[in-house]
Amino acid sequence: MSIKTATLNGVATIEIARPEKKNALTQAMYQAMADAIHAAQADGAVRALLLTGQPGIFTSGNDIEDFMQRPPQSEESAVFQFMKTLLGCDKPVIAAVTGAAIGIGTTMLLHCDFVYVSDEARLAMPFVGLGLVPEFASSLLVPELMGARRAAEKLLLGDPFTPEQAVECGIANAVLPAGEVVNHARRIAERFNTLPPGAVRDSKRLMHGPRRERVLQVISEEAQLFGQRLRSPEAMEAFQAFFQKRQPDFSRFS
Ligand code: COA
Repeated sequence: MSIKTATLNGVATIEIARPEKKNALTQAMYQAMADAIHAAQADGAVRALLLTGQPGIFTSGNDIEDFMQRPPQSEESAVFQFMKTLLGCDKPVIAAVTGAAIGIGTTMLLHCDFVYVSDEARLAMPFVGLGLVPEFASSLLVPELMGARRAAEKLLLGDPFTPEQAVECGIANAVLPAGEVVNHARRIAERFNTLPPGAVRDSKRLMHGPRRERVLQVISEEAQLFGQRLRSPEAMEAFQAFFQKRQPDFSRFS
């Protein structure tokens, strides 16, 4: 099983565990994560959720092969279910970024409440280089968080960035030594055992409330374009290049 779940001391942990494919996420894995968030949300004993990966890798993003074979067709697809469940979760979600967080690996962090990053991690949103567009409101939230200039480097050029830069531009709370990031995130999650859960829930709802409609609207707009781009010759070239372990060649496109 490539998604492991466990609940201990008020914390529901969702662990991405497919290291042989750098924790690339298939539709089945997204569905398992959506189900796990639903279950945590419904479990009165759970006060917070912890989202984590494997040593050296948080996730390399969408499984490109799965993506080509089973492109998400609509907002009913598993990847949408996962992201919408994450967005709708009114319990605190803490991410322990144990290593590289690529594509949706970084995008999902925008929808977590606390983000702790290993000092060995690298983050990147390389959608344009894959012939795609930003997703799940990153085209709205990234410029808002860090300003248009730095957002252009990350979203248009797809430049990878360091954990320190992630903190500096507001994506992450703190950088931790690789061996400590999960325990630190867990300690933060466990602090919710001593806080009143109703007040936490209402406060989280209030914090997200004013932006919620806009975020959902942008997600729909992005999804339409993302779906079209997924079938584009530019994306085909990028995906083939990835599997052929070569640089993509976009010179024939205008
Ligand atoms: N989808 C499918 N397979 C993936 C994958 C992905 N997103 N990321 C890694 N893999 C697979 C590789 O194909 C390889 O499989 P193989 O052993 O059968 O050849 C295996 O995982 C190991 O990956 P590899 O690239 O050899 O590891 P690395 O340590 O050199 O690099 C990454 C790690 C994460 C930097 C690199 O794999 C990468 O850039 N992945 C793609 C990231 C991406 O573009 N994500 C956005 C998707 S929308």
